[in-house]
Amino acid sequence: MKHRKPILITGGAGFIGSHVLRLFLTKYPNYQIFNLDALTYAGNLENLKDVENLPNYTFLKADITNTKEINNLFELYKFESVIHLAAESHVDRSISDPLAFVKTNVIGTMVLLNAFKNLWSQNFTNKLFYHISTDEVYGSLGETGLFTEMTSYDPNSPYSASKASSDHFVRAYGETYNIPYVISNCSNNYGENQFPEKLIPLFINNILNNKPLPVYGDGNYTRDWLYVKDHAEAIYLVFHKGKNKQTYNIGGFNEWKNIDLVQLLCKQMDEKLNKPRGTSESLIMFVKDRPGHDLRYAIDASKINKELGWKPSVTFEQGLSKTIDWYLNNKGWLENVTSGAYQNYYKKQYH
Ligand code: NAD
Ligand code: DAU
Repeated sequence: MKHRKPILITGGAGFIGSHVLRLFLTKYPNYQIFNLDALTYAGNLENLKDVENLPNYTFLKADITNTKEINNLFELYKFESVIHLAAESHVDRSISDPLAFVKTNVIGTMVLLNAFKNLWSQNFTNKLFYHISTDEVYGSLGETGLFTEMTSYDPNSPYSASKASSDHFVRAYGETYNIPYVISNCSNNYGENQFPEKLIPLFINNILNNKPLPVYGDGNYTRDWLYVKDHAEAIYLVFHKGKNKQTYNIGGFNEWKNIDLVQLLCKQMDEKLNKPRGTSESLIMFVKDRPGHDLRYAIDASKINKELGWKPSVTFEQGLSKTIDWYLNNKGWLENVTSGAYQNYYKKQYH
């Protein structure tokens, strides 16, 4: 049997992970890609239906916080590189259950780091631990300025504090044990297969069900949006060409105030559903603000642009339109993920 380099991707059944997996599986068949995922509420193997039978793909159902299981898997498969995406990823959930975020995002990352270190500490040549992180570790910007790789960490939510902590551990393992690593910190992603707890898919789903669109506070919060497939391409580049012990910021050069974004989304939804202009917008409802809500995120992505030649490939209008089309053509997917536990979460969060 042909030997393929074994690469571990964690969280591959989630939103971004599924796009990363597909890209690696189809673009680079010389890797044997292992997708390790615990299949929490956010993990869904339906996201990978089109690639699950490829010979270079193996799914491993496991929890990154389970030390014994993770050590055994590293011993068994000898993963030469890790691309670590598995995480609890929703800020609102981190406010109601912070410990779950410490467990998965901090302890889980530590378990992986230890397993990787123990396996390769005699020889780290051609090995890599790639940690996927977020721009939220930098805290909040005022009306101006951008996050660069030199911006100090200043996390405000339990989610961003847990991600910041995991970033620090990755760096610490690089300094202390010399593990080769890269980290990338990305802005808000949107696109196909995103779980409808995050702003864009939540609002698409609510419009389809004629439910209110709950805008937090006055809606004047700003995020920098990036199409998920452009993020996957950036991860592919950083993995192959990123320099050891470096951080790369990834962003869309695409800032939107929430309320403006929601209005654009409503306009596109009305057009696609053949509804009179203003129909979806009439569902907007301003609700109680998120505690500790960061005012503005915006990424300076010039380092990855200059060093690795990456830039986003689609405009926001194009990416949003593709995204809406996907949800309209995959209502079964939406129905599956919003049944059961989703209803309880929704009631708790919005009532
Ligand atoms: P997601 O919530 O859609 O998916 C997370 C995946 O991790 C799921 O498949 C889930 O089953 C799995 N998982 C959770 N806990 C696990 C555990 N204990 N063991 C094994 N698997 C587990 O997340 P996402 O939005 O795709 O984010 C992926 C990564 O990218 C995260 O690390 C997140 O912090 C980071 N990130 C996300 C965004 C964004 O806008 N979504 C932006 C920047 C960075
Ligand atoms: O910046 C990167 C981060 O982006 C990632 O690290 C996180 O994993 C990801 O969830 C995302 O975090 P945000 O908190 O920015 O995303 P969310 O979609 O939850 O919210 C986007 C904005 O919309 C934010 O200002 C809060 C607001 N919002 C969100 C929801 C769910 C609302 O106004 N109403 C809502 O119901």
